[in-house]
Amino acid sequence: MELVPLINHQKEEILLEKETRKAFLAMKEDMEKEGLWINAVSGYRSREEQELIFQEKIEEGGREYAEQYCALPGFSEHETGLAVDVEYDLLFGDLEMRYNPVFARYGFIERYPEGKEMITGYNPESWHLRYVGEEYGKEIQSSGLTLEEFLERREEKPGDFVKEPD
Ligand code: DAL
Ligand code: ZN
Repeated sequence: MELVPLINHQKEEILLEKETRKAFLAMKEDMEKEGLWINAVSGYRSREEQELIFQEKIEEGGREYAEQYCALPGFSEHETGLAVDVEYDLLFGDLEMRYNPVFARYGFIERYPEGKEMITGYNPESWHLRYVGEEYGKEIQSSGLTLEEFLERREEKPGDFVKEPD
């Protein structure tokens, strides 16, 4: 994995995997043309950094609470460089109607959606985007599935579950 820096609105350096960074910047540029504002606030984290965040969450509300919000060190998508936490300007319905379609076009998915807590294992995190590449971004978005469900169905019916039969 190659990590490359991105400078955010606060002039902080956010590290992302190379393709993820490229897709994020292209997406951000496109969003700005559509009047949508987005800013990266967290990207790659080392296992040690994840450990610190996890410990902070435990101090805040105990272990069970921490596990609903924060991946165990060694298990966070942030450790792959493929996840980016963002802040945006959201009016009601904007995430579903305006942002999500653009995320999908550029290969990002809202990874921990509301209502899917039992499947993803985490409380909703509208700020946590996961890069899956353009092809899968579009497929996942149009299927309405979480990444867990999408991968599980692919295993059951490899190759044909999203395609219409001929
Ligand atoms: N907040 C997400 C689940 C993480 O720690 O990776
Ligand atoms: Zn995150």
